[in-house]
Amino acid sequence: MKVLMPRISRRDLIASGLALSTSALIGRSAWAGAADPLGSDIPVGSMKPVPAVAPREQSLFDNGWKFKFGNGTDPSKDMAFGFGQAQFAHMGIFAVAKARFDDSDWRTLNLPHDWAVELPFVHDDAGTGDNPLRSHGYKPLGRRYSETSVGWYRREFDIPASDVGRRIWVEFDGAFRDTIVFVNGCYIGRSNSGYVPFRFDVTDFLAYGVTNYIALRVDASMGDGWWYEGAGVYRHVWLTKTDAMHLGRWESTVRSTVNGRSATLALATVVQNEGQDAANAKVTWKIADASGATVATAESLRQSIPADGFSEFSATSRLANPALWSVDAPNLYSAIVTVDTDGKVRDAERVSFGVRTAVFDADKGFLLNGKPLKIQGTCNHQDHAGVGTALPDRLQSFRLAALREMGSNAVRTSHNMPTPEWVDACDRIGMMMMCETRQMSSSAEGLMQLETMIKRYRNSPSIIIWSIGNEEGQFQNQLAEQGARVAASMVRLCHRLDPTRVVSYADNGDNEKGPSLALDIIGFNYGAQRIEPFHQKYPKRAIYGSETASDVSTRGVYTTDRLRNTADSYTGGGRGNNGTPEAWWGFYGSHDWAAGGFAWTGLDYRGEPSPYGWPSISSQYGILDTCGFPKDYYYYYKAWWRKEPSLHLFPHWNWEGREGDEIPVWVYSNLDEVELLVNGKSLGSQKVPSLGHVEWKVRYEPGVIEAHGLKDGKVVLSEKRETTGSPGSVRLTADRTEINADGEDVSVLKVEVLDAQGRLVPTANNRVSFTVSGSGRLIGVGNGDPNSQESDKEPSRSAFNGLAAAIIQSTKSPGEIQVEARGQGLGTPARLTITARQTELRPSVPVPNVS
Ligand code: GAL
Repeated sequence: MKVLMPRISRRDLIASGLALSTSALIGRSAWAGAADPLGSDIPVGSMKPVPAVAPREQSLFDNGWKFKFGNGTDPSKDMAFGFGQAQFAHMGIFAVAKARFDDSDWRTLNLPHDWAVELPFVHDDAGTGDNPLRSHGYKPLGRRYSETSVGWYRREFDIPASDVGRRIWVEFDGAFRDTIVFVNGCYIGRSNSGYVPFRFDVTDFLAYGVTNYIALRVDASMGDGWWYEGAGVYRHVWLTKTDAMHLGRWESTVRSTVNGRSATLALATVVQNEGQDAANAKVTWKIADASGATVATAESLRQSIPADGFSEFSATSRLANPALWSVDAPNLYSAIVTVDTDGKVRDAERVSFGVRTAVFDADKGFLLNGKPLKIQGTCNHQDHAGVGTALPDRLQSFRLAALREMGSNAVRTSHNMPTPEWVDACDRIGMMMMCETRQMSSSAEGLMQLETMIKRYRNSPSIIIWSIGNEEGQFQNQLAEQGARVAASMVRLCHRLDPTRVVSYADNGDNEKGPSLALDIIGFNYGAQRIEPFHQKYPKRAIYGSETASDVSTRGVYTTDRLRNTADSYTGGGRGNNGTPEAWWGFYGSHDWAAGGFAWTGLDYRGEPSPYGWPSISSQYGILDTCGFPKDYYYYYKAWWRKEPSLHLFPHWNWEGREGDEIPVWVYSNLDEVELLVNGKSLGSQKVPSLGHVEWKVRYEPGVIEAHGLKDGKVVLSEKRETTGSPGSVRLTADRTEINADGEDVSVLKVEVLDAQGRLVPTANNRVSFTVSGSGRLIGVGNGDPNSQESDKEPSRSAFNGLAAAIIQSTKSPGEIQVEARGQGLGTPARLTITARQTELRPSVPVPNVS
């Protein structure tokens, strides 16, 4: 079967002129890569103002919120919410969202915010079932932790008298979880999911020409998943104002069909008239290329839209010689969609899109723009050291750049719809995406979640697969008939909203029944033994690995120790769920009909602390740790996912006390053969098996081990590991030494503990204290140790196997940020200066009475 997925487009927040040459992006990852060319310099999110197109106004509503814990069981500690029966009986009575409410003991903070990452760890493995505290990484969330599971946010904001007649929405990109919104004392609405964006039209509830009050009750007592999900308003909030005649939300689509050297663009949108009179409207499209030059235009027929009604508009256009979007050249276009009545512009928006073809083929695997391309993917949760789920936008691209540097070309947004900045970054960096909804259900709520995801992201060229779910055991087994029907309904909805992409599901059961029956392409979660027989039996069904590997390793650790909760970096001591990187990629990488797949996971994440429990607080599945420091597996992928010569030698060579013991020495390389030398003496060379590695057993003696990688008989790359001295100093390196003074941008600092000769001490765990002054602040620290229960929010952190990380965020004042890192017992501190340069600020809602 061939499943055609013509290229795409995307409603976008960011100006054109963003299609970067990929060479500027690749190879400039965070800390990955031996040469460490620093700087994930991708202009995403906080890096660019959001250009709402006039007359629409969209302002960031992130700054200056007040926050206080409520209570999940005691209404007297929960702003009296639920104290009596009558609270929802009348409008306008919620004091917390009114003037004169005393919030003087509330804390002031900026969004995005995750309060869970600020909480202490609590050892509680009580109960069984889906979601004991363990899933959340031992953070006290849940109905048994009523004091730390409900949070209130409160904010004042002015609405000018001149806004009368406009439509005004409060828009949430996502909050965890169960958010109730109150404005000016009135209950406005509720959103249950932790991942789905939601918005409320508050036009009628506002007071014009004066100050208004909004309050949010966010309840993280229940979870949506089985991993760390954070708590609070962890994505952006916006205040959006439009004319009463406006474009429907996420209704503009640009669908392209490539015909030889040109592309036809099918343009469509919906215009809503919330005014009191019918009006004649027309929509125009202006297509701009990456430089901002207009390359095509189109115009709809003029048609009447009734009062309180809507109409659909469409047109077609043509692009000559389109610059195709691909993983190597992520060319983007933008369409400015404008609606006017009698020549007066009423609303406009910018939609970013790419032109490409993406096809799954049962024989050839996956083809991008007609060429076979293996999906070299990873699954990821949104969670990072120091900040939890509340990632500053820049961290999205930091993480992607690290994966990209490894040679990965795809991510799966497991198991929920992603944050917009993750998708934006994928569009821009050239990372393909499998985009997954959270709730696998054809109930009204399940379909709403799915519809929201598809409408929100269907113009993004990076997305190549919609996923309707993951490992629904009941639907795969006991309820397989229902599972097949639910899946079929969801697939139908996907096809209706987006006929250009395939729909899949991450199945770890029997792909011959249940949800898999309804799919365009078959996703295998693990189950290596199931894949080949399935292919034999169903040779016309396209196959890929929706989830693979689940191997574990602890960064910089080479022994599996159940008492210390470590998993060795060779094979994870067999404690991974489903085999090593080599096992899965050895298969997918060598079968043309298998399109590739998504390894579990790119980066470690909090919660699901596999393969151990307490005191582990994060998973060990990552190919990189929670800070983004690569583990050894990273270099396996780098060797086989990138074309450039690559060689990585491990372990370190600091084995004091183990003199004479046999130490396994491994090399990941894509060269022909590798020679190993120990203290200058050759142990011979070995041919590197395709998609494999080479290894030796070496009796330990201090000194140096060295690997020479040869191609066509010539040494192309060498690496050595030396027995180092004891810790003597720290080195600080920033991924970017110039950031934007926008109060959002961050620089991610790597701290290395060095010996007297400046070599990384791979076993060092000295505590490092940070002092930050000037135009920035420290927002979080980490070290990638899955067993560390130190705080992410303290100004100090122990190194873990030589490394620690700190995240520095700019303020809105341009200037210098001085950072000092003082290692305990390590002499002179390391110092670094980051420049926060003046930048155009995104429009944001001012806090009344604050200059
Ligand atoms: C999968 C699941 C993931 C994660 C993983 C751990 O079955 O889809 O969310 O739990 O197992 O191996």
